[in-house]
Amino acid sequence: METKLFEITSTTDEKINEVAKLLISGEVVALPTETVYGLAGNGLASSSVKKIFAAKGRPSDNPLILHISDFSQWESLTKNIPPIAKKLAETFWPGALTIILEKSDRVPKEVCGGLNTVAVRMPDHDVTRKIIKVSGVPLAAPSANTSGKPSPTTANHVMNDLNGKIAAIVDAGACEVGVESTVVSLAVNPPRLLRPGGVTVQMLKTVLPDLVVDEAVYAKLESDKIASSPGMKYKHYSPNANVIILKGSLEKYKEYLKTHANEDDIALCFEGEEKVFHIKAISYGKKDDASSQASGLFDALRKLDDLGAKTAYARYPVDDGVGLAVFNRMLRAAHFNVVQL
Ligand code: TXA
Ligand code: MG
Repeated sequence: METKLFEITSTTDEKINEVAKLLISGEVVALPTETVYGLAGNGLASSSVKKIFAAKGRPSDNPLILHISDFSQWESLTKNIPPIAKKLAETFWPGALTIILEKSDRVPKEVCGGLNTVAVRMPDHDVTRKIIKVSGVPLAAPSANTSGKPSPTTANHVMNDLNGKIAAIVDAGACEVGVESTVVSLAVNPPRLLRPGGVTVQMLKTVLPDLVVDEAVYAKLESDKIASSPGMKYKHYSPNANVIILKGSLEKYKEYLKTHANEDDIALCFEGEEKVFHIKAISYGKKDDASSQASGLFDALRKLDDLGAKTAYARYPVDDGVGLAVFNRMLRAAHFNVVQL
């Protein structure tokens, strides 16, 4: 299949109607959001949802997020929306927050990977919200990468993974946040953070003071435990390179590379440090700047593969605020391999 490329940066662009037509006809299309690019299809049609899983090579028990453009769309997707969920949505939508509640019968079982809950979010991206509105249905959309690879933050990343496998890609430039949405389950009591993301724990606690952070956010899931979020049990965000996170000062990091790194290994460092090592280096953001690290991480992980790195040594990121999401993704890319210098 030929993958069409639509450049759309304005909500009045007529190409929005073309994209909506593709979606209504059952095709899947990659769309920009403020977090990462998503691979979207009609979230109420099993056949479209199956196409999403097939294009990504995604295991069928890993559920998808439904994306909406209006609060009213949410009601028919869930059994009921408790006041606390409404308050949470009113505070953070449109935005990088996904809310899980018990699903209604209207949602095809394929969307939810067999669970009785459904994840919903209203993205903070005008073009994509307009596409959802014109399509007239909630759009199911996982990140638009091949399953297991780092999420795409540019249309070019999507092209590299899915060219020829999907009907179209909408290009609206690089994603602002750069890591995926925060996933919170309100289908359990107390509310549980399943994946850290663009909306931070500190922000959530202003509305959900009893929020619990799932242990899988920081640690490898024991093999005998059932994942609260199926996505957590899969190999994730992984470049081909073996990633090792090094925690300590720049001096100690340099010393470690001198004694451990081979010439085709790569230093995954902070901006401005690239020239100080004896091996090639890629920066993934500014030192002590969580937002900058979030927006640069996935592109840097993809560059490691382009350069054919065998091993990459990563500087330890900011690990709170939006940095908790960076740390969580990096831990997975590194298979939890952190060395204290
Ligand atoms: O920012 C984002 O969330 C992006 C953009 C495109 O919106 N989407 C995204 O989707 O990251 P995906 O499919 O790559 O990640 C969704 C995560 C997965 O870890 C999945 O297991 C979890 O959310 N999830 C979805 N529905 C769930 C449910 N009903 N219960 C538990 N976890 C769920
Ligand atoms: Mg994903």
